[in-house]
Amino acid sequence: MLEKSIAALKVMCEWAAAQDHEAAWGYAKILERVDWSGPRQEDQSESMAVVDTYFEQCVSLCGDNPLGDLARAAYSERDQLRWFGMYQTYDDDERGASLNANYAILRLAGPKGCWFASDLTTAITIQGPNTWYPPHVHKQTEVYGVMGGTAEWQRGAEPWVERPSGDIVFHSSGIRHAIQTRDEPLISFASWLDHVHLPSVYVWN
Ligand SMILES: [Fe+2]
Repeated sequence: MLEKSIAALKVMCEWAAAQDHEAAWGYAKILERVDWSGPRQEDQSESMAVVDTYFEQCVSLCGDNPLGDLARAAYSERDQLRWFGMYQTYDDDERGASLNANYAILRLAGPKGCWFASDLTTAITIQGPNTWYPPHVHKQTEVYGVMGGTAEWQRGAEPWVERPSGDIVFHSSGIRHAIQTRDEPLISFASWLDHVHLPSVYVWN
């Protein structure tokens, strides 16, 4: 299960950990924590409408870099992938409705799923076009990597910035952050580096 994707995950983390970037240690931590020896169980495949609609376009928007290579590897294994949505507990809040309908997560290595990593999650996310990922905070330290699709990102009180394929993003514990897509979908790598069982919450004001 996911052999090509996990191999591409490892190469991508080696590439990111070697960069002079505040997130480099996070990628080094992923390399340490993932059990690269093999899958421990099978996983059921499951897709979502946003994936069916945008995965191919997302891959076409990926750059010639190891983050793009990871997206292409996952696409080659698309019949094996188990996608899921997030923030189901926010179903009663209209402000999260766009994200609920247009955001999907694919678990790579982590405490759950077929490849194991202790107290750390690694994932690919797809965010549909014109979709607002509201400002949110969590205790978890987080790293992102932009695979494909140019979106606007905000971190703390910093201005919104467009991030292209190949960009790496670091979110320290407790910092507010948000992502807005425009006319393109976004495919990105995302990892929580600690405290994976704690929730994330939206910040509306
Ligand atoms: Fe986050």
